[in-house]
Amino acid sequence: MSKTTIWFSPTALLGKEHAAHVFSKWLTDEERARHDRFLFEKNRHEFLATRALERTVLAAHLGCSPDAIRFERNAYGKPSIVGEPKLRFNLTNTLDLVACTVSESGDIGIDAEPLARADTVLEVASSVFLPSEIAELEALDVSAKSRRAVELWTLKEAYMKAMGMGMSLPPDSFGFTARALSSPPKEDSDPSRWRFEVVEIERHLVSVAIEQAGTESIAVGTERVVFG
Ligand SMILES: CC(C)(COP(=O)(O)OP(=O)(O)OC[C@H]1O[C@@H](n2cnc3c(N)ncnc32)[C@H](O)[C@@H]1OP(=O)(O)O)[C@@H](O)C(=O)NCCC(=O)NCCS
Repeated sequence: MSKTTIWFSPTALLGKEHAAHVFSKWLTDEERARHDRFLFEKNRHEFLATRALERTVLAAHLGCSPDAIRFERNAYGKPSIVGEPKLRFNLTNTLDLVACTVSESGDIGIDAEPLARADTVLEVASSVFLPSEIAELEALDVSAKSRRAVELWTLKEAYMKAMGMGMSLPPDSFGFTARALSSPPKEDSDPSRWRFEVVEIERHLVSVAIEQAGTESIAVGTERVVFG
């Protein structure tokens, strides 16, 4: 069994002092400019918590200092580490929680959504879910339906991010049964390579999609990162 860790941090755990350190010592000029473009303090804080988690986790893997890491992005915006093609990572951020995961065995994607967002997800169900997924949701009671809607959303988003294509892979072009990709999109030449897992962290559902050769299953653990 192959092991994968989700490193996470509630954004509230990033104190003012460490946030200022991340901003002035770890960020590139481009990242600082991006930070400054956010209108609201809560978004600037989320951005810094994301950068803090990303650089803390990746520096630990690489054995370097957090400010030494440089990123590049593919045509759809998926980031990777310059000079480290084997160490794949992906991250997700919400106002209250940021999470990051890494893989040395292939592509990886992660997505987190607050369970409280279920109503918003259900409002757009017909444009993001397959008819089979909507039929499954309709058969559930209110609370199970809400949870499954958020789970499906994060599974789809984690897969779109693992594929590295973001929204250019339309969410209603593929579908899940339980936590398995049962209707793959035409863009995926080998859908059997993906493993999926969903965990609950701090009232969010967090899904990961991991590329895994052979028939090996995955075990996903979680680790809370405390900054400073
Ligand atoms: C951009 C997208 C990849 C994720 O957006 P999101 O859900 O708003 O954001 P998340 O917090 O989960 O992830 C953002 C991070 O994903 C990474 N990312 C960006 N583009 C990516 C891509 N093409 N593939 C994988 N990861 C990507 C980045 O690290 C980004 O954070 P950063 O720019 O601060 O480094 C894309 O899938 C999107 O726009 N989704 C919209 C939501 C939607 O409609 N989903 C339907 C699900 S059913």
